[in-house]
Amino acid sequence: RSYSVSSAFDFNNALFPLSASGDGYAALGTSSTPNFDLGGQQSLEKHKSLTFLNGLSLVVGLIIGSGIFSSPASVNSNAGSPGAALIVWVVSGVLAWTGAASYAELGGAIPLNGGAQVYLSKIFGEWAGFLFTWCAVTVLKPGSAAIIAIIFGEYIVRAIIGADALDASPWINKGVALLGLLLVTAMNCVSTKLGTRSADLFMFFKFVGLLAITIFGIVVAATGFAYDKDALSQTWKHTNWFEGTSNSSSRWAVALYAGLWAYDGWDNTNYVVGEMINPGRDLPRTIHTSLPLVILAYILANLSYIFVLPADVINKSNTVAVAFGQVVLGRMGSIMLALVVSGSCFGALNATTFTGGRLVYSAGKEGYIPSLFATIGVARAKQYRVPRRNSRTRRLTRFLADDQGFFATPIYAMVLNYFLTAIYIIIGDFATLTTFYGVASYLFYFAAVVGLITLRIREPELERPYKCWIVTPVVFCCVSLFLVSRAIFAKPGQALIVFVFIAAGVPLYWWRVGWRKAGSGRKRGDKGGENEGWWRFWRRW
Ligand code: ARG
Repeated sequence: RSYSVSSAFDFNNALFPLSASGDGYAALGTSSTPNFDLGGQQSLEKHKSLTFLNGLSLVVGLIIGSGIFSSPASVNSNAGSPGAALIVWVVSGVLAWTGAASYAELGGAIPLNGGAQVYLSKIFGEWAGFLFTWCAVTVLKPGSAAIIAIIFGEYIVRAIIGADALDASPWINKGVALLGLLLVTAMNCVSTKLGTRSADLFMFFKFVGLLAITIFGIVVAATGFAYDKDALSQTWKHTNWFEGTSNSSSRWAVALYAGLWAYDGWDNTNYVVGEMINPGRDLPRTIHTSLPLVILAYILANLSYIFVLPADVINKSNTVAVAFGQVVLGRMGSIMLALVVSGSCFGALNATTFTGGRLVYSAGKEGYIPSLFATIGVARAKQYRVPRRNSRTRRLTRFLADDQGFFATPIYAMVLNYFLTAIYIIIGDFATLTTFYGVASYLFYFAAVVGLITLRIREPELERPYKCWIVTPVVFCCVSLFLVSRAIFAKPGQALIVFVFIAAGVPLYWWRVGWRKAGSGRKRGDKGGENEGWWRFWRRW
């Protein structure tokens, strides 16, 4: 037996940088209400359009963002030595790869949009999918956006105002982060096209940044060329690369979280599997091409850092690329790298805001959160038409507006997402948030991969176009279990908050979903019934 195509999630528009159409937005307003039944066709999944290359840029586009330019401090200082740090980068890359391979099997077996939310619902029941959605809306999406925004702020402040300002007050950097987030949110509220078009633009920055660092690193190591020769790292030449390696497993776990942050986003294609032309073939291909590439790129970048920067500089800086530019090319170099990296972060922020808004939107559509958040745009959007006469205005509007005009976007969802993210920006910092985010996300990755194993046992004859080696999910489960349990010792406060969030989802599930299921056996969208008025009231809030 196999799962037919229906979708719980309208991730239509998660295709930001590449769907080429970028205007698949029409489906947003009209898609039918999905239940978790099989067989309900989703409008957007009738036009399957995504290919292998689309999948590739979806994954790579989200993975490379802020992490490779900011995680090295956390990785190196917790691992204790350059050699150990490189091991952490390899291990976290391979862990991400095993997770992604497991997700590729899940995506082939359950070829629906929505990622973990759908897998958990199908395998363990709707409650599991609900808890995931709840945590994604309140913790995962805003938490990850906050991390990227904070790094964006630090790079901008270092480039424009200088390092002293950053040391003077963390609020300058947080203020810039909030402003950047505001800009991104506003852009995504104006039109979907504005969001997708800028995504294309910012893709460029991350490659330039990563490439520049790798090339300069190789040049410096080979020729000894540098602007500031005195500041060059000497350590890598003679000392033992493993001197000082940490022997505390909790610190290794924290280092791994920082590494995993840089690789996070490998599940991105799973959110749009329902729209892939041939997911059984292309999803595993996507994973087995992109992950090795990213791992290689990250190792090279880290070698460059080690070749150029002394260990104590790497250990202390969230903005390692600035220090790198300073040593290799002087002040101009550091400003240029800082701008490129903030461009990369801005692009990642845009991408994650884009999907974040849609996630909140679909949670609203499901009835998980108030339906206000599943409202599209403002009334004005309906009266929109492309101006006829002035051709320049016309071309500009065509370029920037969606088919429904401006503001035909999930504005309320975006605003909610903005405020949740702002809270994390205000109370958190990079190191705390990556561990916090890591615990929460790896709990759910773990659950989904346990689901894969469950599914193999429970439904052995289910059609699986791609079957990963059974060791893969087992390894992934063991390592993520280690990570989560270590975090409880290393950072008990953060782990506790994650568990509180998840626990808070349980009564919420009962309120939003369980109660209506148990009470009347009625599903969303059913009409009539004795307590309809009542029911309406609850449904609304
Ligand atoms: N790996 C990305 C970075 O380095 C972060 C990805 C965030 N994850 C996500 N699902 N939005 O910035």
